[in-house]
Order: sequence, then C-alpha cells, then structure tokens
Amino acid sequence: MESCWIRYPLLKTIADLSNNNTWDHDLTCNVFGEEIGSEITKIPRLPLEENDCLIWKNNGAGLFSVKEAYLTDQGISKDDSSREEAVIHLRLALKPHQPKLGDHTFNIDASWKNVQTGFPSDSDSRFVFSKISAISARQTLSRSILATDRVLKASCPSVVAAFPGGEVGDCGGMLDLESSYRECRIPGEEDGEHSELMCETMFAWREAVSPHLAAGRENGMVEDSDLVGILRRRLNCGFSEEKMNAFCVVETAGGIASPGPSGTLQCDLYRPFRLPAILVGDGRLGGISGTISAYESLKLRGYDVVAVVIEDHGLENEVPLGSYLRQSVPVLVLPSIPQDLSDDLMEWFDAARGVFDSLVKTMVSAQSERIKRLHEMPKKAMDVFWWPFTQHSLVSVEDVTVIDSRCGENFAVFKAQNNGVMTQQFDACASWWTQGPDSTLQTELARDMGYAAARYGHVMFPENVYEPALECAELLLEGVGKGWASRTYFSDNGSTAIEIALKMAFRKFLYDHGGLSNSVNDNSAETSTQLMVLALTGSYHGDTLGAMEAQAPSSYTGFLQQPWYTGRGLFLSPPTVFLSNNTWNLSLPEGMHSNKLKDADITFSSRNEVFNTSRDKSNLAEIYSSYISFELARYPESKGSIGALIMEPVIQGAGGMHLVDPLFQRVLVNVCRSKSIPIIFDEVFTGFWRLGTETATKLLSCVPDIACYGKLMTGGIIPLSVTLATESVFESFIGDSKLTALLHGHSYSAHVLGCTAATKAIRWFKDPQTNKNLNSEGSSLKEMWDKELVYKLSSHPAVQRVVALGTIFALELRAEGSNAGYASIYARSLLKKLREEDNLYMRPLGNVLYLMCGPCTSTQICTQVLFKLYKRLDEFSKNQ
Ligand SMILES: Cc1ncc(COP(=O)(O)O)c(C=O)c1O
Repeated sequence: MESCWIRYPLLKTIADLSNNNTWDHDLTCNVFGEEIGSEITKIPRLPLEENDCLIWKNNGAGLFSVKEAYLTDQGISKDDSSREEAVIHLRLALKPHQPKLGDHTFNIDASWKNVQTGFPSDSDSRFVFSKISAISARQTLSRSILATDRVLKASCPSVVAAFPGGEVGDCGGMLDLESSYRECRIPGEEDGEHSELMCETMFAWREAVSPHLAAGRENGMVEDSDLVGILRRRLNCGFSEEKMNAFCVVETAGGIASPGPSGTLQCDLYRPFRLPAILVGDGRLGGISGTISAYESLKLRGYDVVAVVIEDHGLENEVPLGSYLRQSVPVLVLPSIPQDLSDDLMEWFDAARGVFDSLVKTMVSAQSERIKRLHEMPKKAMDVFWWPFTQHSLVSVEDVTVIDSRCGENFAVFKAQNNGVMTQQFDACASWWTQGPDSTLQTELARDMGYAAARYGHVMFPENVYEPALECAELLLEGVGKGWASRTYFSDNGSTAIEIALKMAFRKFLYDHGGLSNSVNDNSAETSTQLMVLALTGSYHGDTLGAMEAQAPSSYTGFLQQPWYTGRGLFLSPPTVFLSNNTWNLSLPEGMHSNKLKDADITFSSRNEVFNTSRDKSNLAEIYSSYISFELARYPESKGSIGALIMEPVIQGAGGMHLVDPLFQRVLVNVCRSKSIPIIFDEVFTGFWRLGTETATKLLSCVPDIACYGKLMTGGIIPLSVTLATESVFESFIGDSKLTALLHGHSYSAHVLGCTAATKAIRWFKDPQTNKNLNSEGSSLKEMWDKELVYKLSSHPAVQRVVALGTIFALELRAEGSNAGYASIYARSLLKKLREEDNLYMRPLGNVLYLMCGPCTSTQICTQVLFKLYKRLDEFSKNQ
C-alpha cells in the first residue's frame, strides 16, 4: 500500500474506490495492481462506505487511526480557519433543496476553488463538502444530493500534510490527484433524479501565503494557461447537455488583485471568462475604502459586479457603500460569524439564510437578464443598425455575431444556437486592422485612459498644450517620423488624416511652384489651379469625399457609392509581389514588360530579397523609372497639375492585400522628389508594426514629406489619427494672415484619451520587455507566421497567391468570374466553418482571406490559427 501514496494520496475511504456502492474495478486495480486489486473487489460491500476508511501504513505519527481518518474525511480539522472565507458557498450547497428560484432549479451546483493555499487545513471546497452532510442532518432535503469533493493537483508538501506519514519523496511539480475524490449521497424526500454538488479545488499548496509565493516555495508552479484551460473546460464542457442547468461558483484566492500562482493578478487571470462577480467586501473599520477600491479594480477590467456582500461588524458599512454604488448594485449584509472555533455554524447558517437567498436570487436574475438580452440582441441589431460595408439583404439574424466583450486578441462571443455558451473567438481581422493589444496591454490602456479621463475629461487643442498630446507628439517624431518629420497634426480618424495630408501637400506644391502669389488676397476657387494626385490603382485612402477623390476607381468609388466622384488623379497600375508555389514572384502590369528583363528580375529566392536596395541598380529600376516619367509626361496639362504623390507604402490593404514592389514605390518617390511633388505615405494601415517594422518607411528605405497614421497608433482602443509633416511643409502655411494657416480642425482633435493610449501603445510595442516578438535589435518583429505552413499554403491548389509580412497573412483563393473580386461570396461556407467550429473570426475581402494578429501576439497563437485555416481550406477545396 505504501507505493500507492504517491499516486493516490487522497484515497481515504472506501468510497474513493467505489462507484454506486460497488467497487470501481479499474481504479482499484490501477491503484493496487491487477492481482491485489482483483482480490479487493471481491470483498463484499457494507452500505456505509463513507465510514470505512482506508488505513495507510507507516505515517509519522504512528498508524493513521480510523478516528483521525474519519475526522479528516468529514473535513473537520483542529483549526478550521477556512470557514470564514467559505461560508459564502453554503447557501449554494443548500440551494438544491429549495424547490424553485425564479424560473430556475439547478441540476448541478459547482463550487470551484481554483487556487487554494494553506491546504489542507484551509480548504473551501472541503468545507462546503463537509457542511452539506452536517446541514442535511438537521433538516430533511427535498431532493437527494450526490456531493463530490476533489482536488485536481496539489504540491508535494500539501499532499504530505493532508496525509501525514505518506511518502511522496522529492516529487517536484504538482501531483495529479484528479482520479481520487470523495463522494457522498444524501437522501432526500423525493425519489427521482438527484442534484449534484461538485466541490473542487483545482490547485492546492501547503503554505498559507499568496499563491505565487507558495508555488515558488513548494516547487509547484502552474502556468496561467493551465489554470485558465482547466477552468474553461469545466465551464464549457463539464456538463452534458441535459444537465446544462447548472450553477457554478468560482472562488478566487485572497483579494481581487492578489497574485495567482504565476504572479498574474487574479482579476486579470480570470478576465477571459468575465464571469459575473460577487464582491466579498469588508464590513470592518477601513472596509469601505477597501471595498470601493476592489470594486473599481473590477470595473476597470470590464467585470460586471452583481452584488457586494459584507459581514456585519456593527459599522453599517453597507450605507455608504450603497450610496457610492448609487444603489445600482445590492449590498448584502451577513450576520457576524461566531468567533468560537468549536461553533459548527449551524445556527449562523439559519440566521444567514435570508441573505443567501437574496444573493442567489440577485445572481440568478442578473444572469438571466443578461442572457435574455444577449439572445435578443441579433434581432434588435437587425432592426436598428445600418452596418458599414454590409448588404443587409444578405445577412440573416443567425449571421449576427454577439460580442459580449474582448480580452486581448479574442472576442467573447455569445452563441445562442450553441446552448448559449460564451466562446472565445480569435479576432483574425484585428477589428478592421486596428488591434494590437494582448490582454495585458488592454488593461494598461484602460487604466491609463481612465486616469486621463479623470484628469482632463476633454480639452480643446488650438494654442493649448497638455501632457498626453505633447508626449505623444514627441514619441511620434522620435519614432515613425524620425529623420524627416518635425510637425504633428492630430485628428481623429484615418480618412481625415488623409484630407489634411492632401491640403498640406497641395499647399506645399503651390508654394514651391509659385502658385500662391495672389491667393492670400483672393481666396476664391476661380483663381486656383486644378490639382491632381499621382496614385496607384488598388489604393484605398478612406471614405470621406476628399480621400475618395485621391483613389483610383474601385468598388468603393463607383457611381452607386459616390456620385460626386471624379477621381482627381493619374492612377498607375503597380507591379506586385506574391508567394506562389514556394517562390516569391513579381507580377508586372501591362506597359512595364520588357525584353530586357531577366528571370532574376522577376523571381526572388526570399522575401528579404524583394526589399533589398541592391535592386536599385537592376534593369527593373530603369524600366520603372522610364515608365513613370513617360506616364507623367503624357498626362495632359488640361487635366491639371500633379500636386502630390499619395500611396500606401508596401501593402495595399483594402484593395486586396497586395504587396506592391517596394522598388517601384522607391523609384516613384525619387521621380516625384526630383519634380518637387510632395510625397504622402498613407500609413493608416501599415503603421505601427503592422508590417513588422514600426513604419513601412523602413521597408521602403525612403521617406515621405507627409505621412498619415491611425488605427494601431492607439493600440486600437480609441480613435486618433495624426498627419506628420516636414518643417518645409509646415513653413508653407506660415504668413501674416490667419487665412494662410491650415484652417482645419475637428471637435476631438488631439483627444486626451487618444493621445494617452497612443503614448502607452507606441512605447509598449517597441519595448523588448513588453513585446517579446521584437528581434534582438528591436527594429522588427520576428517571423509571426510559421514559414513551413506559409509555403505549404502557397502551393495549395486552391490558392492563387500568398502574402505574409509582419502581422499579416493573406491568401487569394483561385476563383473566376463572379467568384473573384470584392463582391465575391465564394468563401462563405469556408468562413462559416472557421467561425463556428474553429472560433476564428474572419471577414474577407471577396476571395482574399487574411489573418491579422497584434505586434505582441505569441507566434504559437499565429501558428494555431494558420493551421486552422490550412485544414479548412483543404476540406473546402476537396468539396468544391
Ligand atoms: C490605407 C488606409 N487609409 C485610410 C483609411 C481610412 O481610415 P479610417 O477608417 O480610420 O477613416 C484606411 C482604412 O482602412 C486605410 O486602410
């Protein structure tokens, strides 16, 4: 029997080896070996299995007596310090005997203690388990209960303490105890189906200190992912469908911000679940402040606090707490807990019963209201929203994604059709390319913005200075604007940043080309020159009217969308680069083909070669240069002058995730600069590490005169945009009259919250301490997408081309006719599967599918999502 210690130290009673009052043959043989196990299972059973203890030999204090074993089994220890913390569970343990609570009766009550230190003398789950039999001895239950108590994993010292004399040796790590558990059946008045009470401690340590300390001292570390993973499995799959009517309480250890085993604060650790919270506040002196602080920590992390519970200490803390909470959250007061440790608390439970009743009622009604609302939302949304970029006639109510919240890269999605479970879905389109935060940065951003809102509210910008705006401007100029920009012009979205850039560029052009001489005195349209842009087909610069004028005709600019659209520009088709059949290839538009080209000019051994500036000396560079000069020369003067070059550097996003040949863009910049045409880089999409470097200028190896940023700049948490400019662009607006100033502004220009978020995100992304994806020089992100998988996808028969760069992976499905292009719904079934079965939230650009992560997303996550896409694509192409 000694040898069983290590594997099954919590086997204490015959019940631990039983199934419905018969031996669990497999478990018994597993524990004692086939031969002895078979012998044991032949022993006839007595009905009172709970009282038959296994006696383990050779403990330090002599034999483990039956009495001691019995007491331990009943959860009665000499110093029962756990009870104060654990009493909150007891009402739940009682609840199955209450015939109805609102519309709910529960088949299952679960009381989960994820992290327990001070084990075994302190054990909340044991406490609940033991008290249920004590309570049942005082009153008849209406329904019978099957109660179980289980510890999943425990540190060696805690196992030794739980079973003195046991030899666990130098085990290291956490012992797996899942297969040993206690079970007790308490008969009720009614026959028929019993209720279940599941008491579980997930991880236990001996020392009664903070879990991170106990885990370190007892050599029993637990990763956050393991802890969260176990809880997720319990919450999602613990119950079979017919038993879904369950009531679960997850009790945290210590306070809201006490560290978990890895050191992560528990309020952060459990945040992905965003379970409705009951705050156990403090009824003692000083407790008002502590309770409010805890409440605010929860709110700041996006939790809904359903109720606050305090113990009565005669100080009426509930009055100021209720008033602070504006009576919107009930504050319940439990009677004082008896100090006498020999008190079995039964009378206290009787006295507290009413409070526990209201607590359960409050929790149930808050949760059912929440669920009801979540169920109603899709239909209501269909009735009142007008979604952008959405053909409503193609959307049915089942297609609507109900997003309860976001935690890092994941949405928490409520799936009404799937038993109303809350599922984590990876936001693979980074919510329209804005997102960067992992869950840690999200919390940091929320806190900083809360501070900024509290400090400034909103303040107007012109001729004013405030720290967030100044700090943000300085960071931008030291970062994305380094080496060329000296001015920051804040606005609030990408499109307006573009409009501002166009105004700046045109002024600069006129200034440099003598077009401003009369304008200060005569600001009328008649005297002005027609100014056009030089831009690329497939480009996208936003949806405001001016930004649209600067882009080539597309699905977004057609007469149906924008009858005012004229397309004020010379639009050149750019050469693009893509990965296909394991090779990076160049695709040249008509007009650029030449017999001077060699194979080496149009295929590349690696992506790095595409960005290599040694290509500046190639034939291709010459071909590009003459093509651009030729197109500029033949542009009719009657149409106007080219007053600005505007382009998305390196990748055209909305146009279909095309990687434009960086050599072509560099040549374009050089040609325009030689003609004093101001250059605008639209980095709204490409900026802030989207392409693996802080700015795409690093990839292009050339700089603009003006650049626009938005989206990821704030980490994606709040809208803010900026247009950066050189000093000489700025100077073209300087004069004696206000009329020559840039007369452009928005109500929320340089918004404090936006600037605050941007300063945090900009720093976070480029700090190797916070962004583990940075390479050793801190200049670029390591490869985010598994190379082998990327190459495999590039040679998949269903795939036309692939682009993988920085945080973006994109592929174009091979498709023809109406299956190709922006309006295509060719990939619909594939996307539905990915969303519903793989929890991957994607939104394609027609037949172009893409995945997008944040600059700090772990590469393991990227590989997981890419693999999901690969598998589904394979299935999809076989079914075509
Ligand atoms: C390259 C580019 N420029 C401008 C914009 C417009 O930005 P916003 O949607 O913030 O107006 C976008 C939006 O996707 C974009 O991708």
